[in-house]
Amino acid sequence: MARKLILDVDTGTDDAVAIMMAALHPDLELVGVTTVNGNVEVRYCTDNSLRVLDFIGRGDIPVFEGLARPIARPDFPIPRAIKKSTGVHGLELPIPEPTSRKQDRSAVEFLIETYRAATDEITLVPTGPLSNIAAAIALDPKFVERVPEVVLMGGAHHHGNVTPSAEMNIWADPDASASVFAAGFRKLVAVPLDATHEALVSLDDVREMEAMGTPAGTAAARFIGRRIGAYDANQPMKERGAAPVHDALCVAYLVDPSVIETEFLHVAVETQGPLTVGRTVVDTNRRGEGAPNCHFAFHADRAKFVAMMLETLRRTAPAR
Ligand code: BDR
Ligand code: CA
Repeated sequence: MARKLILDVDTGTDDAVAIMMAALHPDLELVGVTTVNGNVEVRYCTDNSLRVLDFIGRGDIPVFEGLARPIARPDFPIPRAIKKSTGVHGLELPIPEPTSRKQDRSAVEFLIETYRAATDEITLVPTGPLSNIAAAIALDPKFVERVPEVVLMGGAHHHGNVTPSAEMNIWADPDASASVFAAGFRKLVAVPLDATHEALVSLDDVREMEAMGTPAGTAAARFIGRRIGAYDANQPMKERGAAPVHDALCVAYLVDPSVIETEFLHVAVETQGPLTVGRTVVDTNRRGEGAPNCHFAFHADRAKFVAMMLETLRRTAPAR
């Protein structure tokens, strides 16, 4: 049986690849997509998610729009951050406008109602700021116990991308992030920059995607090509001509957990410090009081990840 998941996204070039992998991989069943303010304003995240699903022939997957602003962050979006991120993402993804429409229900309603009614396990995969998830936790006292596993892209131990110490998704709504890490989910897996920066996708891989001739290959080549240009210009990785496609690594993990290497540790989120707000504080040396609450990925298997990505993008949606 395919593994069911819900993606909570701020699409975004890497969220877009995550959506395509989740919608096309035969071992996965993408139940729905929820959107949240992040890389771009939420209405663009919604529009971009619909574009991607339509483009690959999966317009049947419902998209629900979520929070337009953080639970608590009066100064977001910050112009500098937005300017940086639009280099990597653009406002609208370079594929045709959607013909599908978002659902009437809000993302948070969908999340709460879906988990309330679920008879099968559905993994929750947030790859944007955690505002929707924190809202669901606050609204439904049973939400946390109903979610079997959360696999989120966010945080960093050795890196920062939006500030010297913080990763964008966690930093964009630090109070929401703190509540998710402290919520007591049965299983919480974090895929931070430490792992995603090891799973780089190269220009050679992009050329292979272009040559596939599938909608997903064509779209991913455009999105990842754009990412590589922006990373080379503004945030060069160890290898030039290559970039992380952060959010897609979470989806790869659902298919093959050995694509990342995790340690089970206590992780909390800093919500106050002027220099460190949004930092994931990872208790690597067991110095704090907190019990382990998170499987935190320090490494990734690049070859495995890229091979799975290429294999999935080669696929087309089954006729419906
Ligand atoms: C994360 O922030 C966003 O810009 C990306 O989509 C990814 O989810 C990386 O820090
Ligand atoms: Ca994202």
